[in-house]
Amino acid sequence: MQTVKDPQMDNGLPVFRAQGVTKIYPMGEVQVHALRGVDLDLVRGEFLVLLGHSGSGKSTLLNILGGLDTPTAGRVFYLDQELTTAEESELTRYRRRSVGFVFQFYNLIPSLTARENVELVTEISRNPMTPERALDLVGLSERMDHFPAQLSGGEQQRVAIARAIAKQPDVLLCDEPTGALDITSGVVVLEALEHVNDELDTTLAVITHNAAIAAMADRVLTLADGQIVGDRRNETRVAAKEIQW
Ligand SMILES: Nc1ncnc2c1ncn2[C@@H]1O[C@H](COP(=O)(O)OP(=O)(O)O)[C@@H](O)[C@H]1O
Ligand SMILES: [Mg+2]
Repeated sequence: MQTVKDPQMDNGLPVFRAQGVTKIYPMGEVQVHALRGVDLDLVRGEFLVLLGHSGSGKSTLLNILGGLDTPTAGRVFYLDQELTTAEESELTRYRRRSVGFVFQFYNLIPSLTARENVELVTEISRNPMTPERALDLVGLSERMDHFPAQLSGGEQQRVAIARAIAKQPDVLLCDEPTGALDITSGVVVLEALEHVNDELDTTLAVITHNAAIAAMADRVLTLADGQIVGDRRNETRVAAKEIQW
């Protein structure tokens, strides 16, 4: 069991502030309302799990927070920087320096070893940790010189996490990181995320449709039809290795 982070302990600005965030996709005759006025503050170091059925707007929200997409209306701030009015070059810098992304599929380069996949990022980062440290943080120090094809799905996902954290981002955004994994590999991946959040104090947002994972989080947000319909804090955090589904 772990201590839940107390937002009162952090007197600073929230890391993220979203105000009235709306996203409408025009689809020919109809408009798809992916987000309908989302308000959200995220505290530094917080471990957030985002739950919701398929199509509820989870990925859209995460992509907007990560600067991969822009809302139709509303404002998004990262610290004191307004992302919704930022120039493309500022957004690029923001994505490159401040945000790490992890997706359901690992997108590793097959002809590069685990270490070399992580190096691709550390070579272009301003303040990276070594690829060795990043891989060690996700429990892969023994597998650094393996190619993706020589690694299990869970190990490949941990390489992807090492790659995302190697630049020491302030926030790590994960969209269904265990979606393609069986429970055993999934739990090891969750342990890696938990460890990163504890060790580096990285603000962590994890999308999942697996409600069992919510027990690990400081805070659980539920989306339905583009709106936040649930926002609760866990009294205690359950360790990843205790999670079952
Ligand atoms: N690029 C897009 N173009 C059109 N509609 C989209 C696009 N991306 C998402 N949507 C729609 O927006 C809604 C929310 O999608 P999404 O954020 O991907 O949900 P979730 O991640 O919760 O499954 C869905 O109805 C989806 O079909
Ligand atoms: Mg999604």
